[in-house]
Amino acid sequence: MTGDHYFTAEPTTAAQPREVEFSVAGRDYTLASAGGVFSADRLDPGTAVLLRKAELPTAATTGPLLDLGCGFGPITCVLATSAPAATVWAVDVNQRARELTAANAARVGAADRARVAAPDGVPADVSFAQIWSNPPIHIGKPELHELLLRWLPRLAPDGVAWLVVARHLGGDSLHRWLVEQGWQVERHASQKGYRVLRVTR
Ligand SMILES: C[S@@+](CC[C@H](N)C(=O)[O-])C[C@H]1O[C@@H](n2cnc3c(N)ncnc32)[C@H](O)[C@@H]1O
Repeated sequence: MTGDHYFTAEPTTAAQPREVEFSVAGRDYTLASAGGVFSADRLDPGTAVLLRKAELPTAATTGPLLDLGCGFGPITCVLATSAPAATVWAVDVNQRARELTAANAARVGAADRARVAAPDGVPADVSFAQIWSNPPIHIGKPELHELLLRWLPRLAPDGVAWLVVARHLGGDSLHRWLVEQGWQVERHASQKGYRVLRVTR
């Protein structure tokens, strides 16, 4: 036991490289994963619901797009594949997650369009056409709110954020809190106990 969480900055858990396979929108992905990152052995079911139910970007989407809390990069890879003209920023506090995401972006042929960064590594003048996140609920409610208050204001005026949160982990109270903060929030979909929230200005 090392005491690592999936949001540890520099995991000491053995990397034990592995691969995760999944399909989204008719495309198959085989991505690199490792110990010490979130859902290291399979596509997280919440992320799967998000990628199945939200409106993926298209060839017409120019971005930039943000994958907030990228983990090993499944959302980044799906966004980069679906929107071949877009730049995708992938942000995570976990260094191993960032390394995996960079490697996986290269696997899907998007190394030149993926910008993998720690939170402070995103230039202040970048605003996002879309923000995608399966956010880190386990960091705690105040920290989660702080995270969203930091990044949602970086949506472009007509931008859209797509969030997935398990109902039993507070999906509905997060929905209410976002509304209280002045965001337009629609429960776009609900499946397998997960809420997919569509957030706009
Ligand atoms: C629920 S996981 C989702 C990972 C990945 N997107 C997926 O779907 O498998 C949330 C991620 O947020 C990251 N995280 C935690 N705190 C963060 C912060 N303050 N800023 C950015 N990312 C953070 C965690 O390290 C973790 O990788």
